[in-house]
Amino acid sequence: MTEKILIIGANGQIGTELSAELRKIFGTNNVVTSDIKAPAQAEGPYELLDVMDKENMYAIIKKHGITQVYLLAALLSATAEKNPKLGWDLNMQGLFNGLDAAKEGLIKKLYWPSSIAVFGPTTPRVNTPQYTVMEPNTIYGISKQAGERFCEYYHQKYGVDVRSLRYPGLIGYKSAPGGGTTDYAVHIYHEALKNKTYECFLKAGTVLPMMYMPDALHATIELMEAPAEKVKIRSSYNVAGVSFDPEEIAASIRKHIPEFTISYKPDFRQAIADSWPASIDDTEARNHWGWKPKYDLENMTKDMLHHLGAQTS
Ligand SMILES: NC(=O)c1ccc[n+]([C@@H]2O[C@H](COP(=O)([O-])OP(=O)(O)OC[C@H]3O[C@@H](n4cnc5c(N)ncnc54)[C@H](O)[C@@H]3O)[C@@H](O)[C@H]2O)c1
Repeated sequence: MTEKILIIGANGQIGTELSAELRKIFGTNNVVTSDIKAPAQAEGPYELLDVMDKENMYAIIKKHGITQVYLLAALLSATAEKNPKLGWDLNMQGLFNGLDAAKEGLIKKLYWPSSIAVFGPTTPRVNTPQYTVMEPNTIYGISKQAGERFCEYYHQKYGVDVRSLRYPGLIGYKSAPGGGTTDYAVHIYHEALKNKTYECFLKAGTVLPMMYMPDALHATIELMEAPAEKVKIRSSYNVAGVSFDPEEIAASIRKHIPEFTISYKPDFRQAIADSWPASIDDTEARNHWGWKPKYDLENMTKDMLHHLGAQTS
């Protein structure tokens, strides 16, 4: 049977790229994109959908004969800190609507991303293991951790085929980041090309786990395509790409733009970053379904600057 995919929150940083990738694999008409906002340009079937509107979500699933949902609509870390009530409501209710659709048999598979924000200041920061102390102190992290528990609960109690990754900060050139604490690692490339200088909202020495978007896309699709028996963790998998601090990414940019300079003006996002891991141990993802990243800092920087440079020239 042909898979029919619905992406919810498709206009965002990940959705923009994931929908293009899934359309390459499954065919344009088998991937329906949706968002609360109209897209700049629809490349295939599109629906306006508020993830909080369960009735409309179900109607769209039935209308298109959807078999899999990628649920990306959420309020990210920095934005949720500014609006905790909306952060909690959107991140939890959206997930419940997706989980219920799977529980009621409307869809076969659900993808829902978690985040490294599930960890907190009491978590071991270096090579953070899959199973460890988890005391998140941001609304975003609390909602992601609660979400993970519900994913596992729905899998165990109702047999729901839900799959999830704890994304680190994601870096890509095709779409703008949506209000996270790791957004600097995208902005820095744009500013390096435009102004040859960047003022960073995190301080030097703030090491965080990151991942280049092509790696995030292949991790996501590989997990969703893996045979169910290989997906042994139904809360969410640790996945690692690269870890670096602002000094290191600046140094990698200087290899291509020698005059590039960086300065620091930490804001409220520093406290969020300080509560997160510096690097991630993803042994389980590697062993269970064969996860392996392709990009390190140097080849990510080269690729980012190449593509962004081509966009601006
Ligand atoms: N980008 C990252 O670095 C990162 C890291 C870890 C986890 N994640 C997770 O991945 C998912 C996608 O992240 P992203 O970076 O693409 O986010 P984003 O903010 O760029 O995109 C989210 C999209 O959801 C849409 N949206 C908001 N409210 C909605 C609603 N009520 N109904 C439908 N759509 C709605 C927005 O319009 C936006 O297009 C989120 O769950 C996020 O927590 C992202």
